[in-house]
Amino acid sequence: MSAPVPDVVTVRAPAKTNLQLSVGGLRADGFHDLITVYQSVSLYDELVATRAPGGGVRVTVEGAHAAGVPTDGRNLAVRAARVLAEQAGVEPEVHLHVTKGIPVAGGMAGGSADAAAALVACDALWDTGMDRDALLDVAATLGSDVPFALLGGVAVGTGRGEQLTPALVSGTLHWVFVLDEGGLATPTVYAEVDRLRADVPGLVPTVSEPLMAALRSGDPRGVADTLTNDMQAAALSLRPRLRRTLDAGLEGGALAALVSGSGPTCAFLARDAEHALDVAVALTASGIASVVPAHGPVPGARVVSSSQSRPEVR
Ligand code: C5P
Repeated sequence: MSAPVPDVVTVRAPAKTNLQLSVGGLRADGFHDLITVYQSVSLYDELVATRAPGGGVRVTVEGAHAAGVPTDGRNLAVRAARVLAEQAGVEPEVHLHVTKGIPVAGGMAGGSADAAAALVACDALWDTGMDRDALLDVAATLGSDVPFALLGGVAVGTGRGEQLTPALVSGTLHWVFVLDEGGLATPTVYAEVDRLRADVPGLVPTVSEPLMAALRSGDPRGVADTLTNDMQAAALSLRPRLRRTLDAGLEGGALAALVSGSGPTCAFLARDAEHALDVAVALTASGIASVVPAHGPVPGARVVSSSQSRPEVR
């Protein structure tokens, strides 16, 4: 007898930061070729998917970072559920409830985490039988960072970021993240990257071997010396006050300070968990709000519980 299909599935999906984010040329499809090294970190969105016969796909959102998240067809979790239903040949009927722990439009792939969480939850709810690779393919149609939100860990992303190669790493990196008020729209930051380097001839980025070596040896100082983000100058140009945040973290003893992805969240690397708390305290003491310690890598989107909401009807 096969296991009963659940009525309620809860999934937790992590945020990401980029240890390397090298932006290549603008492609004909409007995306940029990337070489990036993703790491999933311990800030999470939680998504509860509940069977909703006849109800279509509906989403509700709560949490400190819920403001500004659309709850219509633009919501990435809604789009994910609809695309998966179409692929699996099932009716798109589910209620998704998202509790945001990841900043919105913050450069930490919060929307992508919700899409990945919806894929994992609806896959279990609808018993689609799709394998991991098929889910990764669906994820790539939803956004460049969605496949990584499924995979988690540390991975090299190529193409527009959606083609992943898991990377071998040792140990855990301890971070402090500073959230900024108000997000930055990813396309706006990419457009600023293009504007700032309009005179620079075509760049073909490569994976940073010093970074990969530091990750393999688990040496936070080596990682600190090799972190790069080609989007940082653009994020600082659009949000100049981030410079003060980055400086405050360095003055507070962080090994490195950089903008996370397309920003405006700033990431500070620490030696270990205790040092991360020291850096967090120093940042707070310097008058900076929304200071959040986290660590990585952590696993990608995973089912944390599933249950039958009502007795089976016979
Ligand atoms: O893939 P995603 O939906 O996250 O991308 C949002 C926007 O960010 C794209 O429409 C594009 O403007 C920009 N982008 C880009 N190059 C990438 C990824 C995203 O220019 N590699």
